[in-house]
Amino acid sequence: METVVSGIRPTGRLHLGNYFGAVVNFVKLQSQYRCFFFIADYHSLTTHPHPSDLHGTVRQVLAEYLACGLDPNQCTLYRQSDVPETAELYLFLNMLAYVGELERSASFKEKVRAQPDNVNAGLLTYPVLMTADIIIHRAHKVPVGKDQIPHLEMARNFAERFNRMYGENFFPLPQPLGTEGEPIKVPGLDGSGKMGKSEGEGNAIFLSDDEATIQRKVMKAVTDAGPTQPHQPKSPPVANLFTLLKLVSSPDTVHHFEQAYNNCTIRYGEMKKQLAADIAAFTAPIRQRIDAFKNDDALLRRVLEEGQKKARASASATLAEVRRLIGFRKF
Ligand code: TYM
Repeated sequence: METVVSGIRPTGRLHLGNYFGAVVNFVKLQSQYRCFFFIADYHSLTTHPHPSDLHGTVRQVLAEYLACGLDPNQCTLYRQSDVPETAELYLFLNMLAYVGELERSASFKEKVRAQPDNVNAGLLTYPVLMTADIIIHRAHKVPVGKDQIPHLEMARNFAERFNRMYGENFFPLPQPLGTEGEPIKVPGLDGSGKMGKSEGEGNAIFLSDDEATIQRKVMKAVTDAGPTQPHQPKSPPVANLFTLLKLVSSPDTVHHFEQAYNNCTIRYGEMKKQLAADIAAFTAPIRQRIDAFKNDDALLRRVLEEGQKKARASASATLAEVRRLIGFRKF
């Protein structure tokens, strides 16, 4: 059976981008593959969270994973820092990763722009740590959103380099995986493109947002002056709203507003109202479950204890082989 691995950084609450870009696929895949899903708390240290915040954000993501339908009986659900083998593999892989190629990565360049006062080495080697996460379970497939594709390309390069250097096809070369095969990008509400945690208040809808907040954010979403000719191409902000509508609304609703757009009778206010109602209906049961899981310490502890056991068993088996291949021997 093929292996699937993926993770999410605990840097805040999950939004619809995380859900439709990643988590919905985790839920689908868990019954079909040998799956490992984790909370990437090592990764979150690159932005220096306050020690008193870290635990709370891990709790949040864990509760959200469970609320979305990840089932610890079907998949292995764990916290990255509970599997220190990851850090050892990261160390080994750092010897195979060249500073030049890491510096050329677009996401590193963007981080340098975004946090010029904190260009730490962890940011530079972020894709190496991601590679360790993935190949430590010898994964074949990695369900992620479109923004992670360049990181996965680097992961394949590092895995291939390890295989070449140590003369065995030990690691499968991990491939990205999205809903219909292709990873997707969920747009935000500000008209600029991607839904994200750091793109400014109002751009992202979080799974835990209440109905009033969802409505307020959606009603403020950027649109345009409206179509003036039949079948006019959509401007990016309006196309974004249609993309969101397709994710949460019925095909009939989408068809209705497509038709209204194409014959220039569309009223964006009406469409936004419908979109807000459909998002709220979609997230309401998830939101209720988040609240329940978040306050169940005994359950959260049990899930992570079991997840750690299973993840470490898999990781330490890989590490034993890696050490042997590299040439570490007992006397
Ligand atoms: P992170 O925490 O930024 O995002 C988690 C997942 O959500 C997806 N995502 C989106 N997908 C579609 N549209 C969007 N607007 C959108 N916003 C976020 C991301 O693509 C991702 O799949 N480096 C990773 C975490 C990570 C990881 C790994 C992933 C660490 N190690 C190993 C896979 C395998 C990250 O920062 O994701």
